[in-house]
Amino acid sequence: MGNHSSFPATLTDRFGRRVDYIRLSITDRCDFRCVYCMGEDMTFLPREEVLTLEECARLIRVFVDLGVRKVRITGGEPLVRKNALWLFEQAGSLPGLDELVLTTNGSQLEQYAASLKAANVSRINISLDSLDPARFRRITRVGDLDKVLRGIEGARQAGFRHTKLNSVLMRGVNDDEAPALVQFALDHQLDITFIEEMPLGEVAHARDSSYISNTETLHRLQSQFNLVSSTETTGGPARYWRIPGTETRIGFISPHSHNFCEACNRVRITCKGELYLCLGQNDKVDLMPILRAHPDDDNALRAAIRHGMEIKPAGHDFDLSRAEPAVVRFMSMTGG
Ligand code: 5AD
Ligand code: SF4
Repeated sequence: MGNHSSFPATLTDRFGRRVDYIRLSITDRCDFRCVYCMGEDMTFLPREEVLTLEECARLIRVFVDLGVRKVRITGGEPLVRKNALWLFEQAGSLPGLDELVLTTNGSQLEQYAASLKAANVSRINISLDSLDPARFRRITRVGDLDKVLRGIEGARQAGFRHTKLNSVLMRGVNDDEAPALVQFALDHQLDITFIEEMPLGEVAHARDSSYISNTETLHRLQSQFNLVSSTETTGGPARYWRIPGTETRIGFISPHSHNFCEACNRVRITCKGELYLCLGQNDKVDLMPILRAHPDDDNALRAAIRHGMEIKPAGHDFDLSRAEPAVVRFMSMTGG
């Protein structure tokens, strides 16, 4: 299957940005229905329109051959996909890959944490928007907080460190919980990142009334914690703060208020095999037809990926005041 070139390959876009990080959604399905992410009744894709796990593994291998060093597996909820563990084992054994990471809602972690650790998964991000069971249920529509808390504990017991919580705050829904979530992160030696709600897909609530800026959240936190700004970065859009004497990092992802696009190092692949070059734009390359037309030869696939680099946009263009969502696909398609 090879076509390995003898020199180290890299992917660079037309703005000179090196792309060495991919985020791959392996399913659009999820056992939760978070209000900012999904509609109440979602129609999920038929199986044949979703990449097989073998196709996912092949994509990861080819991207790693092209110089990708970090792979994030997302969804939907990746751990609800049957045999997902097989994919982690495949990816986790690729010599060129430095970091294999996972974004999950935590509902299945109690069961899978130890196997994920054994498969060389290096870090886990867990979505957690509330510590109140009733409120957690309202936000996720169906989720069981206790199960997620057991998943967080399972990750610790399996040996995962610097597990990160991702919290989406919504005004009047859970914005008052920012300090409690930070305290929880401190108590459990977790990192935490607050993500401003992004206008991805049509959902049931008005996004501009639920929107709360990270500046406001930061001010609220500063009145209770001694936050010291940190220059560290993970190459992504988050800005970090620390609380002296603790291991916890507190991050803020502010797609509306910050322009982080100049340093973008990533592309996303949906569970349909669409290579999206920017979270906030519609530019894409369809990789599934290429995967299926050339099952034994990676040259066409490599060429399509390289073409993607030529059309990667300079940056996103979110605007809450617009009536239409800037991007019509859901996070569960593109991967968070
Ligand atoms: N805006 C911001 N974050 C979102 N997520 C899902 N949909 C949205 C949205 N519209 C988050 C989830 C999870 C991560 C994968 O993406 O909460 O933490
Ligand atoms: Fe599922 Fe994550 Fe979307 Fe919630 S935000 S519905 S957990 S994919």
